Order: sequence, then C-alpha cells, then structure tokens
Amino acid sequence: MVSTPLSPDAVARASIRPEIRALQSDLVAWRRRLHQYPELGFREHLTAAFVRQRLEEWGIDRETEVAGTGIVATVRGAAPGPVLAIRADMDALPILEENEVSYRSKHDGKMHACGHDGHTAIALATAYYLSQHPHTFQGTVKIIFQPAEEGPGGAAPMIAEGVLQNPKVDAIIGLHLWNNLPLGTVGVCSGPMMAAVELFDCEIQGKGGHGAIPQQTIDSIVVASQIVTALQAIVARNVNPLDAAVVTVGSFHAGRTHNVIADTAEISGTVRYFNPELAALIPQRVEQIIAGICQSHGASYKLDYRKLYPAVINDGAIAALVRSVAETVVDSPAGVVPDCQTMGGEDMSYFLQQVPGCYFFLGSANAALGLAYPHHHPRFDFDETALGMGVELFVRCVEKFCSV
Ligand code: NI
Repeated sequence: MVSTPLSPDAVARASIRPEIRALQSDLVAWRRRLHQYPELGFREHLTAAFVRQRLEEWGIDRETEVAGTGIVATVRGAAPGPVLAIRADMDALPILEENEVSYRSKHDGKMHACGHDGHTAIALATAYYLSQHPHTFQGTVKIIFQPAEEGPGGAAPMIAEGVLQNPKVDAIIGLHLWNNLPLGTVGVCSGPMMAAVELFDCEIQGKGGHGAIPQQTIDSIVVASQIVTALQAIVARNVNPLDAAVVTVGSFHAGRTHNVIADTAEISGTVRYFNPELAALIPQRVEQIIAGICQSHGASYKLDYRKLYPAVINDGAIAALVRSVAETVVDSPAGVVPDCQTMGGEDMSYFLQQVPGCYFFLGSANAALGLAYPHHHPRFDFDETALGMGVELFVRCVEKFCSV
C-alpha cells in the first residue's frame, strides 16, 4: 500500500466523495507502477496489459488491441440512455528521467514526462467507481485508453476502428493533468483550446565553393537566413491579428568551417494555429516565401510540409457542463480558469471533430513541493492528490450527462 504523501489545502477543501477519496492510495499505486514502466507510442504493451488485468478483475466489458495497444472499456448504467466517452492517453516520451524518486522510470531513456500515467490511473478508477455504482447513471460510458498521443497519433486509428460506434457516442470528455495550473484548479474553455500542429523540413540547395570567391557560388546560408526572417512575416502580415498563430524555425543546419560556402542548408520548423481557415493559408505562404527567395538567388529547394493534428475545439454546451461540474468540485469559482488556451497540440482533436465534447486541464502543479516542472521536462512530476479530483470530475460529468 502506498500512502498519499501530499495533502495541500486546495484539495483538502475540494469536494471529493468519500468513496473516491478511498481510492486515492490505489490511484497513487497504479500511477507509480505505470510511471516505472513507460512505453512509447503503439508499444504500450505492459501498460495495456495492466489496464486489461484491472478491468478483468472488476468484470468490466472491454475490447482490447484496438488500433494496436488501445483498449475500450464499457460500463452500463441502470437503464438505457445517452453514451458518453471518456478518453485517456497512455504513452510516454523518449526522455531520460532525472527525478530521484522511488517510482523512477525503469525503462532508461523513456519517461512519463507528460502525466499520461496519471490519466490512465484516473480513467481506471473512474471505470471502477462507475462499475460499482451503475444505479447512479443511465446510459453507457465508454472509457477509451488511447495509445500514441505523443506521436504518431492513436486517436485517428481508434476512430477508424469504430470506437465511436456500437453504441454510437453522443459526447466525449477528456482531461490533461496540467502543471501550468496549480493543484486545486481546473481549466475549461469553450471553442478553440489547443492549436493545430504542423511541421516542415526544407533543404535549400545552393552551390558551394571557396569562402573568398563568393561570386562563383550560391550561398545556401544567405538564402536560408533570408527565408527564416521572411517566414516571420506570415504571422505578422498575413494572419488576422485577432487570430493566434505561430511559425517557429527550430533547427538550422549548414556549413562546417570558416572559409567554405555551404552547398546546402536545412531548416525545420513548426506551425501552430486555431482558425481552420489558416490550414490552407499558412502552408501556401511558407512555400511561396521559400520558392520566391530561392528563385531570386538561383537556389533550389525541397520542402516536406506535414500536418500532424488539427486544433482541439471544444463544444460550447459540453464545455458548459464540464465548467458547472468543476465549479462544484473546486474550492471556489475562481478555481475554474476560463482562459486556458495553449498553442500546444493534442490528438484529442480527432475525437472532437467527430462528436461534441470538451477537453480540459486539471491543475497539478505544487511549487512548494518542487512539483512544478513543465511537461516534457526530465524532472516533470505532478502532485498526485490531483488524481482523486480527476476521478470526481469525470464521475460528476457522467452523473450530469447521463442523469437518472
Ligand atoms: Ni500530454
């Protein structure tokens, strides 16, 4: 049995029912077990086995090996009614953990550095609680344990395998533990919440030569530098100032020494935005700028532009439901944070394109205890007292959406 090490005020005051508080030590134990054996996208075999074994023990209907390592658990209420899906992602990241904790990763170079171990534990406890209290809701709850959120994406293949059908899902919710918010708060917003994510790699082909004889060359570094600078004009001059967008060049490689003009230069970057109208505009402007600058210098280019995930866009009505539930769980209305948008991405977006739903953030930072490192940091960890809040939030959403 693992004892809960932390009990901050905000959570002590949160309205969590005794039956869910009683699950806290299990939640912590499950999360720490999952934390010790992190697995990358579509390789969540130990994780999926752990989830499957718990569901089997509890006699919960489940479908396994969905899109590889995904699992869908189905819990039915006392009577027929609406179908609500709850989504949890299970995968870890290729990061070497730097935390010195008893539950440190045993898979060197892999780490649950985003909190998906917590998401899996919360979803398991929610399935357990609902299976023990079927009289408290009518309808069906499908709990989706999804692989590969960090890439290449498990939501789209799970949808392709029919997880939103039989029975047809009416709405979907999901949460992300969030160290940008303190423990005891919940971030809920209507409409766009997380950005569309796109990537590009561009190789600029110039003509190398002697550093002292530039007239015989086409300097790929000069060409690529102009491209990097000009790309910044897309957000500044092409995107409506009232729309949020980002164009970041995150890598630039060219050349080896002082006196040689580089033959080729490679730049890579990411594009983020909310407004779907920018899905056509930004890639088009990226290529126009690259093509135009290359042409003006006599250079050529190869561009690989890839769309990863669309924007996460919450449904107004379901977001209102989650907000009203969150207000009853947190200590005060101020604990529900409306402006929680981020330019980070998430493949929850694919589910939200199919059915109305709401993705929300569950505050998990506790700076006083050193639990406030950002997501994807080798020292990332979160306050585990958030786990019980997550279960309470999900259960209350079920009780409200599938009310008896
Ligand atoms: Ni994440």
